[in-house]
Amino acid sequence: MPDRPIPPRADADEVLRELGGGLPDGPMDPAEVVDLLAALVEPGLMAMPSGRFFGWVIGGALPAALAADWLTSAWDQNTGMRYATPGTAAAEEAAAGWLLDLLGLPRHADVGFVTGATMANFTGLAAGRQHVLASAGWDVNRLGLSGAPRVRVLVGAERHGTVDLALRYLGLGEPTVVPADDQGRIQVDELAAALDGGSGPALVCLQAGNLHSGAFDPVGEAAAVAHGHDAWVHVDGAFGLWAAASPSLRHLLPGYETADSWATDAHKTLNVPYDCGIAVVAHPAAVRTAFGMRATYLVHDDTGPGDPLEKVPELSRRARGVPVWAALRSLGRAGVAELVDGLAAHAGAIASGIARIDGAEILNDVVFTQVCASFGDDVRTRAVTERLLADGTTWMSGSRWRDRDVLRVSVSNWSTDEDDVAASVDAVRRAALG
Ligand SMILES: Cc1ncc(COP(=O)(O)O)c(C=O)c1O
Repeated sequence: MPDRPIPPRADADEVLRELGGGLPDGPMDPAEVVDLLAALVEPGLMAMPSGRFFGWVIGGALPAALAADWLTSAWDQNTGMRYATPGTAAAEEAAAGWLLDLLGLPRHADVGFVTGATMANFTGLAAGRQHVLASAGWDVNRLGLSGAPRVRVLVGAERHGTVDLALRYLGLGEPTVVPADDQGRIQVDELAAALDGGSGPALVCLQAGNLHSGAFDPVGEAAAVAHGHDAWVHVDGAFGLWAAASPSLRHLLPGYETADSWATDAHKTLNVPYDCGIAVVAHPAAVRTAFGMRATYLVHDDTGPGDPLEKVPELSRRARGVPVWAALRSLGRAGVAELVDGLAAHAGAIASGIARIDGAEILNDVVFTQVCASFGDDVRTRAVTERLLADGTTWMSGSRWRDRDVLRVSVSNWSTDEDDVAASVDAVRRAALG
């Protein structure tokens, strides 16, 4: 896939025509099944593992992480209980310890490996809901939400939509939206005013890494204001929290470690195969009260670091932390920093290359891995995006940001190199020339 055109050759309906139809009555040899599946699905694959894929926010797969993911499947360990699957549970605990160290998060925090940042946001906010309601004297597990004190949730205007989704899962309704600045960062004085304007239990959700601009909310400053109102502070750092692993980029998120919970993805910046998100909660009692469950047929870890099932929404679960262990072990501390720095440097190079194209304009301050470009008016920007995707050399998403159509670039793949950057900028230039 790294060398072929990026877009799929067939759409889902075409692939379905080959794969679907009635279920055959008889069996097929397993090896033939796999060959057939590979042959029939291949035309419908987007070359996401390519170093020239810059769509949405999608990482590639580091070789060690990819192979560890195959092992995870082959081992087939239902990693909910330490007692039952000590090998994979220990690998996840080791990965969790490394993550807390690397990301500079509290060493006593609980780490849960979930499907993605959506569920990591849900996990952190569920722990927060539990905590702030308990502080208000309300046991949400026993009494539910009916009649509970209203939990206020405050978010920045440019939070990711999955925060709202998590709030829906949690029955917390629509959040109070706090204005953001021209890079999409929450405005701390507006947050303070919004908190002053109400009372009662509160959750504040901040963002480390805006998917259009890459910008970081002033997390430490906002968290101090929120904590002054006894609010729980959650940080959605789906791809941006990894800046904390880089000595040269850590300055982008001062004070992030003072929050109460953090969501990030391993399948984005860390380049672990899909799917793997990470939920970190600084108050283990809150997350374990929200998600822990007991049953007589299970064997619980009451004396050790706790069971995986207490730290995530699921009971049965894939050992998603195993590929994280492999990714971290293969890169080491210096390698992770180099990976993150490399992604940001390539984003900077792509932005400079596009900025030199006639009529192009970079709309964001390129501080991390995201770039938004315009080519004049919306009609021209859309036309450039369409021609670029038809060309197939590279893939960048179209989007709309701050009332303008944009070409969005997200540099998230470990394998992107200078040649990929040059070929991709050339492709944008060709598309811009029409
Ligand atoms: C800032 C942010 N939060 C949350 C998400 C959702 O992550 P996932 O798709 O892994 O659930 C994304 C996805 O791009 C994101 O950029």
